[in-house]
Amino acid sequence: MASIITGNTFDPNTDVPDLSGKIYVVTGGSAGIGFGIVAHLLQHNAEKIYLLSNKEEHAEEAQQELANKWGDASKVEWRKCNLESLKHTDETARGLAKELSRLDGLICNAGLGVGVYSESEDKLDTHMQVNVFAQAHLILTLLPVLRKTKDSRIVSQSSDLHRAAPSSVKFESIQEINTDIGPTYLYNRTKLGQILFAHELYKRLKDGQFGTVTETEGIPWINCTHPGAVKTDQQFQAEEAYGTLGKVGDRIMRPFMKDPVDQGCRPALFAATSPTISKEQIQDAYIVPDCKPTAPSSQAKDETLSANLWKLTKEVLESNIGNLDYTM
Ligand SMILES: NC(=O)c1ccc[n+]([C@@H]2O[C@H](COP(=O)([O-])OP(=O)(O)OC[C@H]3O[C@@H](n4cnc5c(N)ncnc54)[C@H](OP(=O)(O)O)[C@@H]3O)[C@@H](O)[C@H]2O)c1
Repeated sequence: MASIITGNTFDPNTDVPDLSGKIYVVTGGSAGIGFGIVAHLLQHNAEKIYLLSNKEEHAEEAQQELANKWGDASKVEWRKCNLESLKHTDETARGLAKELSRLDGLICNAGLGVGVYSESEDKLDTHMQVNVFAQAHLILTLLPVLRKTKDSRIVSQSSDLHRAAPSSVKFESIQEINTDIGPTYLYNRTKLGQILFAHELYKRLKDGQFGTVTETEGIPWINCTHPGAVKTDQQFQAEEAYGTLGKVGDRIMRPFMKDPVDQGCRPALFAATSPTISKEQIQDAYIVPDCKPTAPSSQAKDETLSANLWKLTKEVLESNIGNLDYTM
């Protein structure tokens, strides 16, 4: 890819363009990096931001902080979306799809961090459900409105830890997914899954599975990002999983970690708002801080794995939601 990116800095205070008239959906916008993303979208005049998350008290705190520091918080509307419930995710997704006549960016940032194995109300590994399956359903449900919006963006917040996913992962069955492989692998597997899903989606859109690509129904810019090592509540989940060892590790690492609002939000904001994405045709890419497309792991480029994950996602969504508004 010939590059016109001259540096690798994307300052969210100065480099996000004016977003007047633009509409965004941000998952996990109530805390950490997602809050930083919402704050800067608001700072740069987005017309409307739908903040999707689960815990009402976090959303209220976020609204307060947005109103205090970042602009007209009435432009940020909280929608409860518990990603641990596919039925609930479906209600939120369909509600938005019905209401929206444009959508400039869907930023899938919500995520469970390194943490102990548990199962969702749909009887699935919660890591895979929250980080991959539920947000895949959001993406696919909102795809028609994203396709109708010129220069729209889909951003999936992955992690460089995708490089340390287990080598045995195949994404072949629910039984495989519902096996406790330990807190770190559970997380890393999902971060790999996000990149594979984004790639498969792009490939299928390009091949016309979702209809002919035209001027008025295009392909959104679909990219995955790594925010860096960022100081957020995610480290507390790792502490819970690894006890004293986790606590000691966190105490050592915290001072070196990035601030979520000033720095952790940068790659996702670059992917979601920068004109460089369309100018340079940055598509199906993996972007590391602040704005550098980089090769993901060889597993993340494995076409068999991405096809398997697509098939498994279809099975999970069809069996738990029933009739889908799209054909996978
Ligand atoms: N921090 C890092 O160093 C780092 C590094 C690489 C990648 N990442 C990725 O960056 C993203 C954001 O992480 P963060 O560090 O900012 O984490 P965080 O501070 O823990 O925030 C996580 C967000 O996800 C939401 N969320 C969690 N479970 C949910 C559920 N069941 N339904 C709906 N929303 C849910 C939370 O909403 P509630 O208000 O409902 O709790 C919160 O807004 C994640 O995808 C993470 O994997 C982080």
